[in-house]
Amino acid sequence: MAETARTLGPGATARALLALTRGDRVEHLTRLAAARPHGSVLRLPTGRVVVACHPDVVKHVLVEHADRYIKGMGQLHAREIIGDGLLTAEGPAWQRQRAAARPQLRARAVQDRLGQVVEAAHEAADRLCAADGRRVDLTVHLASYTLTCLARTFGFDPPDGRRIHEAFEVVQDEAIFRAVTQGAVPLRWRPRRAAAVAAALRTLHAEARGSLGGTPRTEAWAGDEGMMSLFLAGYETTASTLAWAAGFLAHDAALQDRLADEGARLDRGRTPTVADVASLTWAHAVFQDTLRLRPPVWLISRRAVAADVVSGVRLRPGDEVLLLPGATSPDRSFEPGRAVRGEGPPSPLAFGAGPRSCPGVALAVMEGVVWLAVVASRVRLHAVPDRALHPLARMSQAPAGGTVVDVRARTAPGGTAPAGTAQARTAQARTAQARTAHPHPTGSPA
Ligand code: HEM
Repeated sequence: MAETARTLGPGATARALLALTRGDRVEHLTRLAAARPHGSVLRLPTGRVVVACHPDVVKHVLVEHADRYIKGMGQLHAREIIGDGLLTAEGPAWQRQRAAARPQLRARAVQDRLGQVVEAAHEAADRLCAADGRRVDLTVHLASYTLTCLARTFGFDPPDGRRIHEAFEVVQDEAIFRAVTQGAVPLRWRPRRAAAVAAALRTLHAEARGSLGGTPRTEAWAGDEGMMSLFLAGYETTASTLAWAAGFLAHDAALQDRLADEGARLDRGRTPTVADVASLTWAHAVFQDTLRLRPPVWLISRRAVAADVVSGVRLRPGDEVLLLPGATSPDRSFEPGRAVRGEGPPSPLAFGAGPRSCPGVALAVMEGVVWLAVVASRVRLHAVPDRALHPLARMSQAPAGGTVVDVRARTAPGGTAPAGTAQARTAQARTAQARTAHPHPTGSPA
């Protein structure tokens, strides 16, 4: 790491701190990291904070010297609230849970659930078809879909999407508040928030127990804390990515038509294959470009537990390194065509790196592209006038105020266009075309 970081002056430090208190904090920190990829250093009374995005820094902190760090700002604060699950635990407790979750999250095991994920996407599309002609906020819809995919992957009952989402809104608000204030305002001084946090935790415990029912507990969810961690890590990120993608797609009818053509390969009534999913070129490109532009995990933070030198800066235990996945790509426009043409690498840091990188990547990609293709084949999404997408960045970044779109059904609920209509004929032709293009299914049927 020959390049050195630059220490910010008092004015720039004050501006960065002020930006941290706002919902659009991601924009400011991403610009800061992009301007100086090897690092800008904030000197705070609590210690130093290095803001960076360069691959050398990423490799040093997340991969080569991962043992010198624990998770930092945000996740450290979430841990105080939701406890020691896989997302937040450290040391042996983390190792045991990571090993226990691995078998179900392997690509092969995830592929075995393809049929169930496609069915979950059709069920989600049924709900949208039923909202034909109405204005819909997709937030709870996406929470329910991603929680269903997670439940089917791990073999428990899907928890209630709305209750989980509302509870985690409270957890996320509290975690980011503690991160920004560095824990200077204890919860006992904020009785209303304390009551909201207690209620959210009661909901999460109840949903964790209700979902498991009679399912035997494994080390990955030895306690409710393990389940809460899985819920949070496993639904919020994919749901936020799809919320951004849907917001972009609502402005682009032609792109939705491309996805709809691909979605015909996942029609109900035929067994989906891994090859079908691999052939969803536009759905993969939309997912990938959304991750590049709006990575849900917008901040990967680490707190030093041993002395280290990063970009020439001597770090002491307690100092933090903040890595910004969104700063690795300078282009700020949504243009999935580039990924289709093979131009520009996918976001290198969207799923993290090193021993704590995302173990759910295979599930995330599969459920993401399947939802995009299936939903586009069943409904059209229209942008609501004068409703721009702005980020609300807490533990993850999601569109502030949700993704609100006008929904028009392309098919009847159940997935079929009314018989004899032009839509039905097009759907039949698409299915026949897809079968000719993929005559030899190679994946494992669910
Ligand atoms: C688009 C969707 C997703 C994105 C962008 C994403 C991104 C990430 C990133 C960047 C990390 C590393 C955080 C860090 O190093 O501090 C992470 C960790 C994690 N992710 Fe994902 N994730 C996604 C979906 C999922 C899914 C579907 C699961 C399902 C179980 C999952 C489970 C986890 C867990 C358990 C961790 C913590 C791992 C550990 O600390 O050992 N993620 N994710």
